[in-house]
Amino acid sequence: MAFAPLQNDLFLRSLRGEVTERSPAWLMRQAGRYLPEYNATRAKAGDFMRLCKTPELACEVTLQPIDRYPLDAAILFSDILTIPDALGLGLHFVQGEGPRFARAIEHEADVAALPTIDVEESLGYVAQAVTTIRHALGGRVPLIGFSGSPWTLACYMVTGGSSGDDFLKARNWVYQRPDLMLSLIGRLEALVIDYCTMQIRAGAQAIQLFDSWGGLLAHGSFERFSLASLRRITAALQNAHPDVPVIVFVKGGGGWLERIASTRAQALGLDWSVPLSEAATRLGPGVCLQGNLDPAVLLSRPEAIEAEVRRLFEDLRGFNETAHVFNLGHGISQFTPPEHVAVLLEAVAQASQRRSLPQTTHPR
Ligand code: CP3
Repeated sequence: MAFAPLQNDLFLRSLRGEVTERSPAWLMRQAGRYLPEYNATRAKAGDFMRLCKTPELACEVTLQPIDRYPLDAAILFSDILTIPDALGLGLHFVQGEGPRFARAIEHEADVAALPTIDVEESLGYVAQAVTTIRHALGGRVPLIGFSGSPWTLACYMVTGGSSGDDFLKARNWVYQRPDLMLSLIGRLEALVIDYCTMQIRAGAQAIQLFDSWGGLLAHGSFERFSLASLRRITAALQNAHPDVPVIVFVKGGGGWLERIASTRAQALGLDWSVPLSEAATRLGPGVCLQGNLDPAVLLSRPEAIEAEVRRLFEDLRGFNETAHVFNLGHGISQFTPPEHVAVLLEAVAQASQRRSLPQTTHPR
């Protein structure tokens, strides 16, 4: 399986800790409902899961933002909930309400009854999508694979879908049935490792672990119920594939940056609650920072977008040894005007020209 050579390696170089000539940029949920072409393909597919399960369509929507904007990385089009779907929970998406499972994990017996699955068999469509996308990209930019963290997946599985109360049921398990929650997390951890490994073998060039709801855990519970498994997953992936960088994104994890960095992930994804300068000060230059503009900025006027981007890079000035990948602090809103993304990326390219090279080059 030979893929075309990579033409733009800014993103992978940054993840490896290099301060590049400008910050590479990609956006969480860059393929999605704010793009009319996405909505057209989704309509053609009929429903969201069909889109994920048809490699040609998943490939088509992955490339839509790459064709439209000067992005520096593509991300596999799929969803974190493919794993619970493969476990037989019966995933469907209700328009306007988000994900729903036909069966939630409510009792001890439900955890025990989770089937043993082979990811290559049950989630082989994801591997096929990855390989299809790598070929279609033709080396233009690298491809990111991803998985949800065990804790974040458990939140949805215990709740039966999206939550209106910050996953209170899952957080209750942490106190009422910690043993059961840890056993569910252990099951998911093994699957996440296999799932990411499958994506790497199929062609994923970096992996992002989404702990979207890690920040809901209490200070004393985060280590035990989320970070410990993120640490083991990161180590397992890095051991088997040292050349594929891992990005750990914990939404709401600003208070725990040092602990999250102890996973030794190559990069940390940051939400907008922490200034990049503070993260750089606390962590030092050993880890790449990814983030962290508030997605709400994209709903404002172009001048405001440009000003916020300038402010972000102004804040990062002086941290000449900290590698940086530009991203939003969470997924892009479906209400974002597509032309604002072009404004954003142009501003990022300008403002991040930096920071860098002249001081570190030596006279020959
Ligand atoms: O970033 C990308 O472009 C790749 C695609 C991607 C999707 N979901 C597509 C999607 C990725 C990386 C995800 C991850 C995901 N899915 C997360 C982690 C990231 C985060 O946002 O915290 C989570 C929590 C989910 C679960 C999920 N999937 C929810 C809660 C929803 C409904 C809410 C919403 O924003 O619509 C989804 C559906 C979903 N996943 C859509 C897309 C484009 C919209 C579905 C549609 O087309 O109707």
